[in-house]
Amino acid sequence: MFDLTGKCAVVTGGGRGIGRGISLALAAAGADLFVTGRSSAMLEATVAQIRAAGGRAVAMPADITDMAVPGSLAERALAEFGRLDVWVNNAGSAAREDVGALIDLNEGQWDRVVDLNMKSAFFGAQAAARAMRGRGGGSIINITSRSGSHPNPMTGQYGAAKAGVENLTMTMGVEWGHMGIRVNAVAPGVVVTEETMAVLTGDRSQKQIDTVPLGRLGQPHDIASACVYLASDEAAWVSGITIPVNGGSRIAIGYLAYLRKAAKAREG
Ligand SMILES: NC(=O)c1ccc[n+]([C@@H]2O[C@H](COP(=O)([O-])OP(=O)(O)OC[C@H]3O[C@@H](n4cnc5c(N)ncnc54)[C@H](OP(=O)(O)O)[C@@H]3O)[C@@H](O)[C@H]2O)c1
Repeated sequence: MFDLTGKCAVVTGGGRGIGRGISLALAAAGADLFVTGRSSAMLEATVAQIRAAGGRAVAMPADITDMAVPGSLAERALAEFGRLDVWVNNAGSAAREDVGALIDLNEGQWDRVVDLNMKSAFFGAQAAARAMRGRGGGSIINITSRSGSHPNPMTGQYGAAKAGVENLTMTMGVEWGHMGIRVNAVAPGVVVTEETMAVLTGDRSQKQIDTVPLGRLGQPHDIASACVYLASDEAAWVSGITIPVNGGSRIAIGYLAYLRKAAKAREG
């Protein structure tokens, strides 16, 4: 079950956080890995770990918001491994300077977040589909967020971008199915990464855990397991869906905090 031997996978943002977990899990299942992101040191560390475990992996440092990158990534992966079977659009986030209430949001904050989280994911998927077309198809996996299907106060444009990717996932699944290309998404809840824990300081981490029926925050391997399934032939009849992986939680990260803050402001 879930054997990826002989498949080649591209993971964007594979140097750290969830993307690193996805890269390691796909490699452990037998895939050859092509990882990208801006920091070459982190990519090299992921690649070294995969190689030390006996796998094959290559790093290509690149900024995925540069629209020349997705096509050249696909070409490099094909040149390196002779095939492209799996493409994970994982790179994404909202930088601190882009966090804020919608009423104050400016165009730069909108563009940076939507470009990284939606535009790059779409053109990544398109580059993957072009490489997979006529070569037996493949599996494209978009990492979205619980914010894509819930209100997301203080980073509304991030939630909108993730929602857009989930909608595109359905349409790409329809348009590309006849080429043997499956397109799915995985929507994480709050997952422990260096970035997340830098924000969840003090009692914020416990407040998040309190909203999770399964009683803990996610780990990168929780998200990676869903990706291994979607990449595998066991998911051969699965396309156009979003799998929520969130410990059963239905509350978006900033939702309760925003309401508490608004109530305090009203009280004066
Ligand atoms: N952690 C969570 O709680 C959580 C929850 C829901 C959804 N997600 C989603 O899961 C995915 C991974 O999140 P994470 O928490 O692992 O994030 P993270 O720790 O901040 O890592 C983000 C990754 O994306 C890469 N990246 C960012 N901008 C890039 C760019 N312009 N070009 C190429 N790579 C870029 C980063 O590498 P470089 O900095 O080296 O470029 C890094 O590998 C994202 O799509 C995020 O929206 C995360």
